[in-house]
Amino acid sequence: MTVHFIGAGPGAPDLLTLRGRDLIAASPVCLYAGSLIPEAVLAHCPPGAKIINTAPLDLDAIIAEIRTAYQAGLDVARLHSGDLSVWSAMGEQIRRLKAEGIPFDVTPGVPSFAAAAATLGMELTLPGLAQSLVLTRTPGRASAMPERETLAAFAATGATLAIHLSIHRLEETAAELIPYYGADCPVAVVWRASWPDERVLRGTLATIAGLVGDTMERTALILVGPSLGQEGFIESSLYSTDYDRRFRAGRADAVKS
Ligand SMILES: C[S@@+](CC[C@H](N)C(=O)[O-])C[C@H]1O[C@@H](n2cnc3c(N)ncnc32)[C@H](O)[C@@H]1O
Repeated sequence: MTVHFIGAGPGAPDLLTLRGRDLIAASPVCLYAGSLIPEAVLAHCPPGAKIINTAPLDLDAIIAEIRTAYQAGLDVARLHSGDLSVWSAMGEQIRRLKAEGIPFDVTPGVPSFAAAAATLGMELTLPGLAQSLVLTRTPGRASAMPERETLAAFAATGATLAIHLSIHRLEETAAELIPYYGADCPVAVVWRASWPDERVLRGTLATIAGLVGDTMERTALILVGPSLGQEGFIESSLYSTDYDRRFRAGRADAVKS
């Protein structure tokens, strides 16, 4: 018996990995994290599977369901939206499973920042503009931020920021970033990236809060930084003609991969 933690992706059912799909299909129990997991992903569960929405459950109740499956020798597919490495609450579940000796594995998923960038058709690390991407959030009711992880500290680097869980604080967030990026810095807000009703609004730090107003809530990502403008970047040397490409086929000393 194994608990399979599976990143279910950002919303579009065909952005689930093949491994994730096969594990769901082979698991007689499925625990899924509420409305961010599309019905079409749950449709991969085998006939007769026990399918439980964990949105109304607390951690004790979730672990109790897993324990019941463990005692019956039944594999569990545990689905969270996006990827599991960020804001999935997987860490606390794994800690409990380890304490109880219940085996688990982890299958990654497409994270929402990648889906949002795909919706925008953008690379977020453009040479000369930004070579780092910070995945962050602002404090929430349930989660304080560690003292040193301030927006200002990240903004001071000039990196591209992907700000999660913060659409309800867009105005304060933009105001906090203006001293670092400037009022004209481009911003994109992507709501429900990859879902059929996805929406995108683009503006600047000065205009974005007014543009979004109260038209988007919850499942939106705020992307900020010079790279969002997609202008003024230099070409990467990787594909330049005079770059010493040791990996280029045909060179006598080309490295075989
Ligand atoms: C609890 S976190 C989950 C993050 C997820 N584990 C991931 O890999 O992206 C929820 C936040 O992720 C972002 N998010 C998740 N899915 C999204 C989507 N399809 N489009 C835009 N933002 C999304 C939003 O900022 C939302 O508030």
